[in-house]
This record gives sequence, C-alpha cells and structure tokens, in this order.
Amino acid sequence: MTNILHIQNATVYRERTMVFKELCLDIDHGQHTAILGPNGAGKTTLLKLLSREIYPMPGQNAVLRIFGQEHWNVWELRSRLGMVSQDLQQSYLDNVVGRDVVLTGFRSSIGRYAHQHFSMEEFQRADQIIMDMNCTDLARKPFGTMSTGQQRRFLLARALVHDPQALLLDEPTAGLDIQACFQYLEIIRALMRQDRTMILVTHHIHEIPPEMDRVILLKNGRIVADGTKKAVMTDEAVSDLFDVPVRLLETGGFYQVVPG
Ligand SMILES: Nc1ncnc2c1ncn2[C@@H]1O[C@H](COP(=O)(O)OP(=O)(O)O)[C@@H](O)[C@H]1O
Ligand SMILES: [Mg+2]
Repeated sequence: MTNILHIQNATVYRERTMVFKELCLDIDHGQHTAILGPNGAGKTTLLKLLSREIYPMPGQNAVLRIFGQEHWNVWELRSRLGMVSQDLQQSYLDNVVGRDVVLTGFRSSIGRYAHQHFSMEEFQRADQIIMDMNCTDLARKPFGTMSTGQQRRFLLARALVHDPQALLLDEPTAGLDIQACFQYLEIIRALMRQDRTMILVTHHIHEIPPEMDRVILLKNGRIVADGTKKAVMTDEAVSDLFDVPVRLLETGGFYQVVPG
C-alpha cells in the first residue's frame, strides 16, 4: 500500500502558538480519513502542512513525507493533491466565471489572467468535469454571483482538473443549506468510490460520509483517538473531544449529535 502522508515528530508553530508538538500520523492510499476536532484543534494547520503552506520546525527526528517524498516542487504536488478550503472560497475573485474557475486549477491561480493560455485538452477536461457536476448551466456565471453551494461545487471541480490521487476538504458542507449539503455529500461519496483518497477535516459530525473508514479525533493539536468510525465515534469520546456532554445518533452510516 502506498503512503500518502507520513508525519513523525512534527512540531509546528503558527506565529507564537505551538499547534503541534511531536505529531505522528500516517495516512495510506485508499484510507479515507476524517479528522474531527473543535475549533482551534489544528485541523486547518494539518491541511496546510500537506499543501506545504506551513512547515514543521526542522529537527533531527522530524519527518514529513507526502507520497513517500520529503522534497516537493509545489506545483507538481498540487497536481496530485486537490484541496478545497474556506480560505480558497473567501479569497477567490468574484468576477471570474464558473468555467474559468475550473481552468485556474491547471495553474493553481485564484483568477484567470490574460497571459494564461490553455490547451484544447485542458478546455475539454474542464468542460467534462463541469458536466459531471451538473454545473454546465452555471459555467458563464461569475463566481461572486453564485450561491455558496454553487461556489463550493466549482472549487471542487477546480480541485479535480489534474485527477488528483488525494482530495483534502476543510469543512466541506459548512454554510450550505440542506439541499446543497446533500448534493455536495453525494458528489463527495461518488468521488470516494473512485480510486481517490479523501481526507476531510471538520467539526461537523453530520458531514462525515458513511464510506469514511477511519476517524481521528484531534484536540489541542494532539491525536486523542484514531481508529475505525465505529470504534472511535462513541458518546464518551465525542463528549470529551468537545468538552460538552453529547449523544450520537447513527442512521445509514451518518452520525448526528444531540445534547447528552
Ligand atoms: N495565522 C495564524 N496565526 C497565528 N495563530 C494561528 C493562525 N491560524 C491559526 N492559528 C492558531 O493555531 C491553532 C490551530 O488553528 P487551526 O489549525 O486553524 O484550527 P482548526 O482548523 O482546527 O479550527 C489555534 O490555536 C489558532 O489560534
Ligand atoms: Mg479550520
């Protein structure tokens, strides 16, 4: 089995805050993983380690390997790891139309610029993904005039242009209404059935798809539980994680949380 992520003894600071102290984590190809934790646990920081926006402190025993490799050309890495984050949605330029949003995935830019040229294959690939997402009628719509759910789908399409081996999603359904949330979850589940590893970080329990086999609980930068969903998602563990008594309800592989 190939390894997607190998972190050993990684200590990570964001300005003066130590987010991780000697963190160890491995994720293998095909191992769909949800990382669940309260605000400030370090979820977004973990994704930024993977996308190489943040680096661990150099140390003798510190290792961060992605797809088995320590050194990366970020452009090449971005073609193998697709990412959809809140940061991206907030920073994306409002006047870019849907189809161009997807095309910018080929250049990892957040807008389409005059100097960028795209090949016929790139246009065809973008149009195909837009069609797969049922978004063709929105292809000419400016990003800033789309609903949050439509924007999210275009950013996911953008993340898919290179057919990445792994997809990283940060709170995928945050801010979506029920219809948009369910549509988006359906798309995510379909992508998981392809040969693609999904890594999802969230504090929304309801957005963990039934197909996620591994759940990691993260609190204050520490992994407090790691295992199968059934083993990890207990009333007690989730109550401890969020520092509030909760009860979990499970239906069809989805979980909901109510006061305990
Ligand atoms: N840009 C930043 N500068 C300084 N500290 C930050 C920054 N971003 C996040 N942090 C801190 O890092 C910790 C982890 O944050 P984050 O990874 O965003 O958590 P999560 O995504 O789980 O809510 C928090 O204590 C947060 O305050
Ligand atoms: Mg976050």
